Amino acid sequence: MLGSIINGKEYNETKDSLPVNNPYNGEKVSEIALASKELLDEAVNNSYDTFHAVMKKMPAHQRSDILRKTADLLENKAEEFAQSIMNEAGKPIKSARGEVRRSIQVLRFASEQAKHITGEVIPMDAAIGGEGRLGLVKRIPLGVVAAITPFNFPLNLSLHKLAPAIAAGNTIIFKPAEKTPVTAYMLTKLFSEAGLPDGVLNLVMGTGKDVGEPLVQHDKIHKVSFTGSLPVGKSIRKSAGFKKVTLELGSNSPNILFDDANIDEAVKHLVKGAFAFSGQVCISAQRIYVHKSIHDTFLEKYIKQTEALTVGDPSSEDTDIGPMISEEEAKRAKQWIDDAVENGATIATGGERDGTILKPTIMTDVKSNMKIIAEEVFAPIVSVIPFEGEEEVVDYANDSIYGLQAGVFTKDLDRALRVADKLEMGGVWINEISTYRQDNHPYGGVKQSGIGKEGVKYAVEDMTEMKFIGFRLEQPE
Ligand code: SIN
Repeated sequence: MLGSIINGKEYNETKDSLPVNNPYNGEKVSEIALASKELLDEAVNNSYDTFHAVMKKMPAHQRSDILRKTADLLENKAEEFAQSIMNEAGKPIKSARGEVRRSIQVLRFASEQAKHITGEVIPMDAAIGGEGRLGLVKRIPLGVVAAITPFNFPLNLSLHKLAPAIAAGNTIIFKPAEKTPVTAYMLTKLFSEAGLPDGVLNLVMGTGKDVGEPLVQHDKIHKVSFTGSLPVGKSIRKSAGFKKVTLELGSNSPNILFDDANIDEAVKHLVKGAFAFSGQVCISAQRIYVHKSIHDTFLEKYIKQTEALTVGDPSSEDTDIGPMISEEEAKRAKQWIDDAVENGATIATGGERDGTILKPTIMTDVKSNMKIIAEEVFAPIVSVIPFEGEEEVVDYANDSIYGLQAGVFTKDLDRALRVADKLEMGGVWINEISTYRQDNHPYGGVKQSGIGKEGVKYAVEDMTEMKFIGFRLEQPE
């Protein structure tokens, strides 16, 4: 039984627990002891006290050292972590190893960033009457950050919150997704092994309803950083009050192939971009708009390469596509396919479900009001849609409540930059898929895809507050 870890102590005796199951074979991976309201309160109070007693005084070089040591330890235990991600999330082992590699880099970026939190000198004499004054802006930590993390990248998306929070000098309440708490537990222990003082990172096990909601409302929390679904993001925004919030929410990411696109490259990358981790990625390619002159060639090659994917057991070295996180989710996604077909869409390949596995599915003849287009599908389902003109396709791509990342494929630089400017997105890739993310660029959406940016440097900024200190300089008589 894995429990919450508060001030270095584990709380694993409880009446209320939840099993953690392998989504592929249903085998029990572990069990978590759910935190009570009282325990959550104790965790937040401890984080608050630890912020004042420990973290406020910890120098940047020490925070940087701890992050670097955590990266080194993670490198040594990379395979253990990859196996854990594979077991509890059902992520194919090849992809799970990739996630661990990215996580090590995130820690190293954060270790560097901890030493580069700088302020500003304000030209006070720019204002009439400001002569003889000096203005400084310092960046100071916020206090206690609530990190509420999703199941799809149990390690890396947790580290995108924890590592910047530590770099900036905050303490953290870490509430991982209840479907993937084991990796979170291992990570909390790893930080401790690297020398992070007790109470700086308090892990609280529980559901969104019982732990997430009271955590967001708690008076001693200064910032909520959440990655997950739009409905939960909306409710966090409502109940967070004066707290700062960063919300990394959903998307139905468009990818546009103009007539001069390199079709073979686009096909190769979009197979990954739509189906990696069964499409359970916020920037997964969901809508592919293809110029009508290359549409049929693209579709034929795309179907062929999709059908060549190895689907099945995530623990197998050959597997490209494993299960979805739960049977309920796989059923929901299959229903969206069926609804679309009833309304005139065609399944070009895939469409079958077996337990938690949904075959990689390509849809055609879709309409903009179908759920598989208008909503975040978060499943291995992608639609291929023909278009004729540049303005038309920009309108299609922007016709969404979301705006996270997009991909544009063309050799025409003018067109690439023109379209990138017109797309209402947090990020646009040229000749790269929407699904590509590097951990050091700003990442975060516009519209209902979220608020704020991650990408280590930007998250560190968001986890600090500006403090102004002004001097009136005495002039000699
Ligand atoms: C996400 O699903 O939001 C994260 C994607 C990534 O980090 O690759």
